[in-house]
Amino acid sequence: MARRLAPSVLNADLAQLAQQVRLVQDVAEWIHLDLMDGHFVPNLSFGPPVIAALRPYTDRFLDCHLMVDNPVGLLPALAEAGADAVTMHVEALPDPAEAIHAAAEHGLSAGLALRPGTALDTLLPYLDTIDLVLPMTVEPGFGGQEFRHDVMPKLAAARRAIDASGRSIALQVDGGVNLATLGDCLAAGADVFVVGTAIFRAEDPTAAAKTFRSLIDEGRGPDDRAGEA
Ligand code: DX5
Ligand code: ZN
Repeated sequence: MARRLAPSVLNADLAQLAQQVRLVQDVAEWIHLDLMDGHFVPNLSFGPPVIAALRPYTDRFLDCHLMVDNPVGLLPALAEAGADAVTMHVEALPDPAEAIHAAAEHGLSAGLALRPGTALDTLLPYLDTIDLVLPMTVEPGFGGQEFRHDVMPKLAAARRAIDASGRSIALQVDGGVNLATLGDCLAAGADVFVVGTAIFRAEDPTAAAKTFRSLIDEGRGPDDRAGEA
């Protein structure tokens, strides 16, 4: 599966959301949107109305990461808003199978996310129906946190489980992805790269996004020797 770049706008200038997306969309297949409710995580961000407002300004795949207590309750509004995909946390789902089914019923591609401390085993029973796996590399809630290297064995195990499933399932990495950590994410087998602060807090977000694009395409971190990864 071709690798994809998914800039996260959480730490972008949200007063100019459409303009910020325009800065990166030429080199990014997906735009990553972090929905937070102040309960599942301590932070509060934005919800379906903001996604509906953004939708006319970009034709990119809108990848919604739901850090909320009741993700299933948001599905109708997200489908209506024009979202393309939802990633729900297993920790927030009493019945993941039902939630995945509900997403599909709304025409949404469905993924499952894990906090750093949640075992991969919790989502393995759903690999036959999901489109994406996200083992978070920070505690969800805020951009700009330090990458959790201790999650790499879980990321690699997710890669093996996906390959063994024979299904086309994306393996996303989200949290602390920057030029110093990208190589580890590639080596562990991630194929969708969420990058927030390292793009939108860069002096030139377009140039930063292009750099990530090239490295992701080449399959190497900036310090790896070409062709090694
Ligand atoms: C954190 C969010 C991330 C965040 C990533 O809970 O899920 O998508 O925006 O930001 P960085 O890349 O700065 O860690
Ligand atoms: Zn996210």
